[in-house]
Amino acid sequence: MSSKLSTFVCQNCGSESSQYFGRCLNCNSWNSIVEEIKSKRSKYQDIKNHKKSIPFNEISSKKISRFTSGFREFDRVLGGGIVPGSVVLLGGEPGIGKSTIVLQSAGKISLNEKVLYITAEESLEQVKIRWERLNQNSNDLQIFAETNLSQIIGEIKRVNPSFAIIDSIQAIHNHEMQSSPGSVSQVRECSSELQNLAKDNNISLLIIGHVTKDGSLAGPKTLEHLVDTVINFEGDNISSHRLLRSIKNRFGSTFEIGIFEMLEEGLREIKNPSSIFTNKENISGVTTTITNEGTRPLAVDIQALVNKTFYSNPRRTTTGISINRLHQILAVIEKHVGIKLSEFDCYIATGGGFEINDPSSDLGVAISILSSLKNIPPLANSSFIGELGLSGQVRKSNNLRTKIEEAVRLGIKNIVVPKLEEELNNNFQNLINIKEISNIKEAVDYSLSK
Ligand SMILES: Nc1ncnc2c1ncn2[C@@H]1O[C@H](COP(=O)(O)OP(=O)(O)OP(=O)(O)O)[C@@H](O)[C@H]1O
Ligand SMILES: [Mg+2]
Ligand SMILES: [Zn+2]
Repeated sequence: MSSKLSTFVCQNCGSESSQYFGRCLNCNSWNSIVEEIKSKRSKYQDIKNHKKSIPFNEISSKKISRFTSGFREFDRVLGGGIVPGSVVLLGGEPGIGKSTIVLQSAGKISLNEKVLYITAEESLEQVKIRWERLNQNSNDLQIFAETNLSQIIGEIKRVNPSFAIIDSIQAIHNHEMQSSPGSVSQVRECSSELQNLAKDNNISLLIIGHVTKDGSLAGPKTLEHLVDTVINFEGDNISSHRLLRSIKNRFGSTFEIGIFEMLEEGLREIKNPSSIFTNKENISGVTTTITNEGTRPLAVDIQALVNKTFYSNPRRTTTGISINRLHQILAVIEKHVGIKLSEFDCYIATGGGFEINDPSSDLGVAISILSSLKNIPPLANSSFIGELGLSGQVRKSNNLRTKIEEAVRLGIKNIVVPKLEEELNNNFQNLINIKEISNIKEAVDYSLSK
């Protein structure tokens, strides 16, 4: 009906057409055409309330006053709570618990702030059933079941909440566009309208988005640029653990994580996360490392299984660390410990499949591999920290102090680390046995001798 309001623009070359093509007629690229709303009038004429620039010293630098999400773990990932007027994108696979965490959070926030929950996927009754299961006790949470963008914007303006939730962006649509809900065009258009509304009215907005199988938020790489904060909700189908991970944050550090457990009555925060990724067993092929995720140290087990191969190309698979890292570590072991690994399959898995990005886990991976290969358990009650350099040296690690502190807190007796500054070593005397090493060979001799 209103096709005249929209136009189809090639994202590669910028050419416009009045209908959709799978391939751009101008530059021949495939699937590059996206529907966009034509701007109704020139943006630069007749601006009445012209704004003025000001000198820096006239800007008041009062601290941003955040409000709590109701979960300490959620606040941590946000960088210390919700920033008024900010837009957060919460992504996650279907069924992981996005609506659950957001509904619990909304319930808690609504005890102090005006909150509007917009459900575009589920009926009011469905949300009510969840609400009762989660045993929420706020009476003031406003809820609105709608998929039409202009209705949603109208209601947000009318209620004027401090915090609004869109569940989910893929289910809402702007009726001025022909594209179907969930298409890149719709997701982009709806998000940018909502973003403007949030900024103009100082409303904090949380947008839920589904993640496709390959791990990207459906459609919107563009959406990630648009919003202030991008958070992923992760977990597997086997365990009840769930992780919030910040991927982008204009108001806090990235790669911060929050850890939860999914129970019948909803999500519960895990207070001592190191305990869930470690087993404290002394068996061959398993070591413990302490990684840094955002500002938090976390103990995680690394398990290796090394077996004689039946294949012409040995198998290498990883869960929780990147396969390229494994290849590099294997190469370093071959060259600098002098062990031929080409006849062995090698499988690596972290405790709970926890995704480790900290390179200081290298040493733990290497010791696990050699421990499995030799069938010797590593030094009992120990943990391993250090990034492996290509020439076999063990390189410095970030935040070593907090990592050692976490080991002490967990009651670990021995810790193998790169060379320390003197002062740091003195700090931990009598608390933990610190072994400083400078290369992989030393680490192996120390940890895997019978
Ligand atoms: N009665 C229940 N007891 C325990 N856990 C439940 C119960 N009902 C649902 N769950 C948990 O909640 C999860 C679904 O949560 P939720 O609907 O919040 O996910 P979602 O990410 O919003 O999913 P969707 O992508 O469908 O919107 C289920 O996978 C299950 O783990
Ligand atoms: Mg949902
Ligand atoms: Zn083109």
